[in-house]
Formats: sequence, structure tokens, C-alpha cells
Amino acid sequence: MTNVILNADRLTKQYGSTWALADVSLALAEGTSTAIMGASGSGKTTLLHMLAGILTPDSGTVSFAGHPISGLSDGERSRLRREQFGFVFQQGLLIPELTAVENVALALMLNGMSKRDAVGPAAQWLAALGLAGLEDRRIGQLSGGQAQRVAIARAQVTGARVIFADEPTGALDSKTSQDVMNALLHTTSGNGRTLVVVTHDPNVAARCQRVVTLADGRIVADTAASQASPAVPPAAAGHQVRYAPPVQQPAPVQQPAPVQQPGYPVQQPGYPAQLVFPGQPGTPGQQAHPGQPFSADGTGAQR
Ligand SMILES: Nc1ncnc2c1ncn2[C@@H]1O[C@H](COP(=O)(O)OP(=O)(O)OP(=O)(O)O)[C@@H](O)[C@H]1O
Ligand SMILES: [Mg+2]
Repeated sequence: MTNVILNADRLTKQYGSTWALADVSLALAEGTSTAIMGASGSGKTTLLHMLAGILTPDSGTVSFAGHPISGLSDGERSRLRREQFGFVFQQGLLIPELTAVENVALALMLNGMSKRDAVGPAAQWLAALGLAGLEDRRIGQLSGGQAQRVAIARAQVTGARVIFADEPTGALDSKTSQDVMNALLHTTSGNGRTLVVVTHDPNVAARCQRVVTLADGRIVADTAASQASPAVPPAAAGHQVRYAPPVQQPAPVQQPAPVQQPGYPVQQPGYPAQLVFPGQPGTPGQQAHPGQPFSADGTGAQR
């Protein structure tokens, strides 16, 4: 498999007499979408949390970009999660007291960016997810689908390379689920990033390129989805959600001090969303300004 970004090798986890995971191995290629399915209690969330470094296996290893996560200190692991991973849960876990743009900006602020600098990229991501004009709404003033798209923006704004989603459409009706899956797929595997989504919904799973099924803590099926349609533009699919065109000339972003860090590759946080749309020139995952700081005066010249 080319370019494995996450590799799980012989993971086990036992709670009392229950094997939440019993010898699970799984390699995920960068830029792909994978659904994890299975009955309640089959180990889906346990596997997701282990891949994300939230939960430590009893035995076995998880590697991110070739580096074992278990070799990292607690601090390094939490930094890895903040900078390289994004999370979307069933209930977005957004902060109700904050506005949509503040919720998204917070992810950058936790990585050391000032609020003043963080709101620009946050607003760009909201716009890219069809939420322009709703930046200043509090979460309670948004629909469930809109709130999930705020959660997706928050998961992505840091430049996360892997997005983990646990039942992201579990609380939504089927039409809104499709909208949210469009948004998730379009901004992840449709944009060179990696998506791992736990779901009970076969319609959601069918949208992913690969479906891994668990039963009693073991992988019992691992198939390429026959009808995967990862990056349907919402307009073409007849949905209401609209995406802003890719941002070509970003607002000036003050980058924090370069991150010198642990045993995993680090990307520049806070770069604006350069989404590649089907039918448009460009390589999936390509960024407008890969790895370059933006100029303070907005001209695009490097400082
Ligand atoms: N902290 C824990 N303590 C004890 N048992 C646990 C713990 N976490 C998970 N388990 C058990 O491990 C098994 C797998 O749990 P997990 O949460 O991974 O299931 P799941 O597939 O995500 O289920 P669901 O679809 O209901 O969310 C279950 O039997 C569960 O009861
Ligand atoms: Mg679960």
C-alpha cells in the first residue's frame, strides 16, 4: 500500500473478560476514506481512539507516518493530536458559549496562535463548508447539520492530516447526513487528507472508499466500497450546501513560531483551506502555499 499514514499492528485491549479489541491490524493509506462498522460493542470506538492515540493498547502498536505513537511522551502525544489529528463526534462537542468562528479558531489558539490571527483561517474554513454569514452565531442558533459542519471546520483548521469521526451523522436525518458526509469527504479524502469514520449507517459507509467491519473486537470484513463516491460536489448532488471557491489569496496570517517537534512530521498550522474541487485543475491535497509563511502585508511575498 502506498504511503501508509496510520498503521495498527496486532492491537489488543481487554476490559475484564471482554476483549474490546483482539488482535486487530490495519493499515490506512494517506488521502483515503475508511468506514468502521460493526454492532454495538464490537470495538469501533476503541479502535478509533487507539488509532488517534487517545487510548493505549494492552499490546500491539500504532504508528503515524512511520513513527510509533507509543514511543511518544504524553505531552508529545497530545501535541500530535492537536496538530495532526482532527475529531468530529456525534454531538459536535462544540462550546455553546462561543460563536461558530470562535469554536473553529479555538483549535488554532490551543496550538499557540492569537485569536486575532486565528479568526481569518477559521472564517475561511467556515466559508468553505458553506457557512459564510453564520460566523457569529452561537452553536445553539445553528441546525444540527450546520453545527456538524462547524465541527468539521474545527477539525480541519489546524491542517490535520487525519480526521477521526465517531458517528458524525448519528444524530441527523438522512438528508442532512448526506450533506455532512459530502462536507466531510470533500474536505478530507477529496483534499488529500485521511478520513476514518465510525458509523452504523450503511449509506454513510458506502460513501467511503473502504469499509472495515468489526465483530467482537476482530476485523471480520475489509472491503472496497463498491459505490464509493467520495467527493460529490453538493451542488451537483442537488443539495443545499454550497462551498466557497478555493481561496487563492489568503488573508495575512501571522504564523506562530515554527514548531520544532517530536518524532513525527509537522505541517504549518493555520494555513487557509485550499480545497480542490472535482473538475478543477490541481492535485488533491495540493495547497496554495505549501509550507510557506504568508506575508504580513497580504501580498503573498515571503517575509
Ligand atoms: N472503559 C471501559 N471499561 C469497560 N469496558 C469497556 C470500556 N470501554 C469499552 N468497553 C467495552 O469494550 C467493548 C467495545 O466497546 P466500544 O465502545 O469500542 O464499542 P463500539 O463498537 O464503539 O460500540 P457502539 O456502537 O455502541 O458505540 C464493549 O463491550 C464495551 O462494553
Ligand atoms: Mg462507539
